[in-house]
Amino acid sequence: MCGIVGYVGHRPALGVVVEALRRMEYRGYDSAGVAVVGAGSAASGPDESAGQRAAESGTVTALKRAGKLVNLTEALAEATATAPDRFAGTTGMGHTRWATHGRPTDRNAHPHTAAGFAVVHNGILENYAALRAELEADGVEFASDTDTEVAVQLVAREYAAGPTAGDFVASAYAALRRLDGAFTLLFCHVDHPGTIVAARRSTPLVVGVGDGEMFLGSDVAAFIEHTRDAVELGQDQVVTITCDGYTITDFAGTQQDGTPFRIDWDLEAAEKGGHDYFMLKEIEEQPTAVENTLRGHFEKGRIVLDEQRLTDQDLRDIDKVFIVACGSAYHSGLVAKYAIEHWTRLPCEVELASEFRYRDPVLDRSTLVVAISQSGETADTLEAVRHAREQKARVLAVCNTNGAQIPRESDAVLYTRAGPEIGVASTKAFLAQVTANYLVGLALAQARGTKYPDEVAREYRELEAMPPLVQQVLGTEKQVRELARELASESTVLFLGRHVGYPVALEGALKLKELAYMHAEGFAAGELKHGPIALIEDGLPVIVVMPSPRGRAVLHSKLVSNIREIQARGARTIVIAEKDDDAAAAHADHLIEIPAAPTLLQPLLATVPLQIFAAEVAQARGYDVDKPRNLAKSVTVE
Ligand code: G6P
Repeated sequence: MCGIVGYVGHRPALGVVVEALRRMEYRGYDSAGVAVVGAGSAASGPDESAGQRAAESGTVTALKRAGKLVNLTEALAEATATAPDRFAGTTGMGHTRWATHGRPTDRNAHPHTAAGFAVVHNGILENYAALRAELEADGVEFASDTDTEVAVQLVAREYAAGPTAGDFVASAYAALRRLDGAFTLLFCHVDHPGTIVAARRSTPLVVGVGDGEMFLGSDVAAFIEHTRDAVELGQDQVVTITCDGYTITDFAGTQQDGTPFRIDWDLEAAEKGGHDYFMLKEIEEQPTAVENTLRGHFEKGRIVLDEQRLTDQDLRDIDKVFIVACGSAYHSGLVAKYAIEHWTRLPCEVELASEFRYRDPVLDRSTLVVAISQSGETADTLEAVRHAREQKARVLAVCNTNGAQIPRESDAVLYTRAGPEIGVASTKAFLAQVTANYLVGLALAQARGTKYPDEVAREYRELEAMPPLVQQVLGTEKQVRELARELASESTVLFLGRHVGYPVALEGALKLKELAYMHAEGFAAGELKHGPIALIEDGLPVIVVMPSPRGRAVLHSKLVSNIREIQARGARTIVIAEKDDDAAAAHADHLIEIPAAPTLLQPLLATVPLQIFAAEVAQARGYDVDKPRNLAKSVTVE
């Protein structure tokens, strides 16, 4: 949610910042902006007089535009066509916004500027109203409706007349200490080209360490093409970068350490690789995502987690499991519930992270909270984790981003190794989460002895057999795309499933809603007759996820009955069923065949055609598959 980038070095900052924003755009695309600190080209222009000051010491030139990044790049091209040096300078920052306070207009776009300062921000400044009133009482005039602007006005006031007057870095600290809420903030100043001060509290920020140049980004994709050496910042840390290096302190200014790490994926992983959309590439990467997630997690006959600060005894003492997550990650948790309860005999509840802590759940030392998050930074999930830990519960994170805040604050971690997921709608991360959740279930069953080692090994082998089957399902692509084109002008599609097929139905409906803006709902097939069946009318497309006829036969026959019920009422049935499932085929107006798999693992297959379907409907309707309206990849506000 909001992508932030910063650069100090020897190259023209504008190019580096705009390229970084391209990679950050998936985090938010309501508006975009840049600011460059130059060494004194007295440039001026109509757009950003507030932050632009031709002074002896230099300039800070900003430009920002509502809408996607392309609006900004067009405006930049225009601005530099007549004045090529307008954005000259080797220090710069950029922002791509997901609006919280203030509509997504040019004026509310970041950077916000005042008296030679420029600031970009991700998060919410919770005490902004009080600070704004205080500053206005002091005669400050605000130029936007955002919470962010108080940060730039505060630092400007401190620098002009506070106890830290004339000291850029100290003034930034003074401003930061006044702020409450969740934020990543970057500050630069006209008289200090070559320095950026940045802080993080609860929202992400990483430092990229180059040779004579330093980078800042909401995530490593911002600078992956320039360096693989990165430093992770902790909660409540402030970093000051110059081209020679960085210093990290707490908000009080006491020296601290960051955590250096080496980025283990390369630029190619963050590129579309010949696909029209990242999402289509990521759908294709799913067999590898599942395979990589399994890799290294079964050693010497035992399931192993990546980080475990819990003993086996701690795991044996668990008497209840809560899974907390949002969006697709939540659906992956719903799938996991069936396996965890079946394998461990522990009660397992799955909760939307945004609801969890506000309803006072019963938590204690013997509760395990499994927090699932691709980004590891979703604010709702992070706050649920914090609440759980305050209540002394144990927390295990399933996360796709190394060292993100959620795993950092957890007692144990299992990383999904799906690689960077750029498409806003989750695909490969979802399949990797389902896989990882099964590993968590097996780890619990192993520690608690509810499964013998050979049973754990057998389940693991079944998981290991899934990637080639996922690959086979990708073979349905052409057929699914044709179907999607046919149904693209429908106004409603319903999804039905039972058992683990029910969360698959929910996920299929979510994909269609978020990508194609189509009314789509997922139902537990058995619940249909208690209300939703009233929605069925002649020709209404209903996608049904059939369980295997071999596994739980009762489930299968019940779902066949449900299909007949809706068919009798005129529904057009699209059935996803195991190959050679004749009973299902007999009732399918359109049949999508998937390979046979154990019942619990079927979601790894049945979800795939639904992803392709949603992406194709969206394309047929002319929408941007990677950047659906109003959404953002990583939601760092509650
Ligand atoms: C956003 C994304 C979803 C994602 C959800 C949870 O809403 O658009 O695709 O499932 O956040 O994200 P997380 O990073 O916590 O898995």
